[in-house]
Amino acid sequence: MDQVSRNKENYVWKNIRDVKELGEVRMEAMRAFLSDYGNAQQTRRYINASLPTLPFKNAEFDLALCSHYLFLYSDHVDQQQHVDSMHELCRVAKEVRVYPLLSMRNNKISKHLTPVMEALEKGGINVSLAPVKYEFQKGATEMLLAKNV
Ligand SMILES: C[S@@+](CC[C@H](N)C(=O)[O-])C[C@H]1O[C@@H](n2cnc3c(N)ncnc32)[C@H](O)[C@@H]1O
Repeated sequence: MDQVSRNKENYVWKNIRDVKELGEVRMEAMRAFLSDYGNAQQTRRYINASLPTLPFKNAEFDLALCSHYLFLYSDHVDQQQHVDSMHELCRVAKEVRVYPLLSMRNNKISKHLTPVMEALEKGGINVSLAPVKYEFQKGATEMLLAKNV
């Protein structure tokens, strides 16, 4: 919250009006998660794993969503890890959607995006960019779509 306060101009204050409301929205999400996670043993809906290796079968899922990890942490996760992680997500899901595509360092499109898209295409995966309605990080208006063809 402190960091967001200091960098308010990097965010779009439309759906979320101010830093206080952001805090409330985040706390509510955390409460909802923790209450659901209490039943984790019964539901088996939470599985601890770490990209670039996932403990799932090929095409086990119709859709994989990856948000605020790949591309956002471009200075911490290198290009090869991005490529390997995307290949792994595409292995376990028929369609993969990743958002946002900006690096957190400068709010610009990640330096890994084009090389990752090229590597996926070479591997026979269909990639494209698609607009999204949600925008909080300023300029984060697109997601990456990847589909096994
Ligand atoms: C900023 S949080 C985003 C959380 C959530 N996806 C969201 O959009 O609110 C980044 C997440 O990436 C996860 N993460 C870090 N390294 C990872 C890895 N190698 N594989 C999968 N997830 C990882 C962290 O555990 C953390 O939950």
